[in-house]
Amino acid sequence: MLMLNDLTVRDGQQSLLATRMRTGDIIKIVSILDNAGYYAMEVWGGATFDAPLRYLKEDPWDRLRAIREVVTKTKLMMLLRGKNLVGYRHYPEDVITAFIEKAYENGIDIFRVFDALNDPNNLVYPIKVIKSLSKAVRNSGALLQIAIVYSISPVHTIEYYEKTVEEFVSLFEPDFITIKDMAGILTPGMAVELVKMIKKQGVKVNVHSHATSGMAPMTLIKAAEAGADLLDVVLSPLSHFSSHPAAEPMVEALRSLGLDPEINEKVLYRASKVLEGIKAKYSKYDYSKRGKVVDINVLNHQIPGGMISNLLAQLRDLKAEDKLEEVLEEVQRVRKDLGWPPLVTPMSQIVGSQAVVNVLSGRYKILLNETVNYLLGKYGRPPAPVNEELKRRAEEMARNAPKEAMGAKTLEDARRELSKVYVEKDEDYITYALFPEQALKFFEERYKKKLAKAVGLGWF
Ligand code: CO
Repeated sequence: MLMLNDLTVRDGQQSLLATRMRTGDIIKIVSILDNAGYYAMEVWGGATFDAPLRYLKEDPWDRLRAIREVVTKTKLMMLLRGKNLVGYRHYPEDVITAFIEKAYENGIDIFRVFDALNDPNNLVYPIKVIKSLSKAVRNSGALLQIAIVYSISPVHTIEYYEKTVEEFVSLFEPDFITIKDMAGILTPGMAVELVKMIKKQGVKVNVHSHATSGMAPMTLIKAAEAGADLLDVVLSPLSHFSSHPAAEPMVEALRSLGLDPEINEKVLYRASKVLEGIKAKYSKYDYSKRGKVVDINVLNHQIPGGMISNLLAQLRDLKAEDKLEEVLEEVQRVRKDLGWPPLVTPMSQIVGSQAVVNVLSGRYKILLNETVNYLLGKYGRPPAPVNEELKRRAEEMARNAPKEAMGAKTLEDARRELSKVYVEKDEDYITYALFPEQALKFFEERYKKKLAKAVGLGWF
């Protein structure tokens, strides 16, 4: 039977409300949606870990526990960026292990894992941990979804995806393969081909397609007809634009085609009404007030909308806004030279920044640090061979560069460095290892508040 995933409080608010939604509001939505009949709700991971810490002075672990308390019928899912977990760099193995185990203990049932380069080597360790999670915590054990990053390039052919999926299935035996179309460039035709190809390999398929180009609702419908098992949707108030297709019309459309996902629409209407009110509180961040409902540039340049606005901001800072078209073309050139990496975090930032530098100061006159690290293979295996000349230059630069001692913190570092007065629970060490600066600031304030409360005065 075809089923639906709800992404409202993770990807929905991350796409349209700059990940600013507070836990109290999230609880109001998920407690209603628990009765809708969704296969799962994606409620954690991605940017929803560091944004609460950074901007909302909220503990992401407390949020997860609060959600788990009110969601008793529906599975909870999180998005995990492979070895980058919920951050932007590769973390040490002890941090990866502790993070995944605690996420599971605190309520995550499904881990959706991806690597920006679709490099299985980057997925081996986190998946090993996911597969070894104790069934004693939850009687079913955790489920594994591997998301393959969808991109368009001369190497990202159906054959490339077939090989990638074969590799993932034989190495990791996932419960689902998710087609992750973060840019919203997956056509209905390609979706049909991919879904059929993945189904042939005997694994369940989930489709995740952002609405950026306007194609996603059509893409999901065709994917469903081709045999997809699971589709990602959000409640209508946070749908479309750079988010996802709306749940309510999707349910209706699927039912009309004999593919009833058996969702209680009354529950959706109730939740959407509540969400309308909540959304109004965040209007300062509301992308749907500024962005385009259909961003046709995505089809034109195949560059995600979020990335174009970042490039434009960079160019504005450099007083070179008129160079945008040139930079967009240079992006394709840089992608080719770097072996066509998909334009998803962190590759979208690396490729974009190098393209800006190329246009402003001459092609590859300056190689950015991140570009050098990428060329040295530090981000994983590029989808296609990289430009040999650039690789040679990167190797030379690495030989001559002073050795950097700045590695990511291990859990042991965290246990040694973090003052005991700040620690309330074991998870605090993980938070500190992931985002030392933000965590410290957060813990300091939490501690001050606790003290002030204890003495009954606000003399801080
Ligand atoms: Co997404």
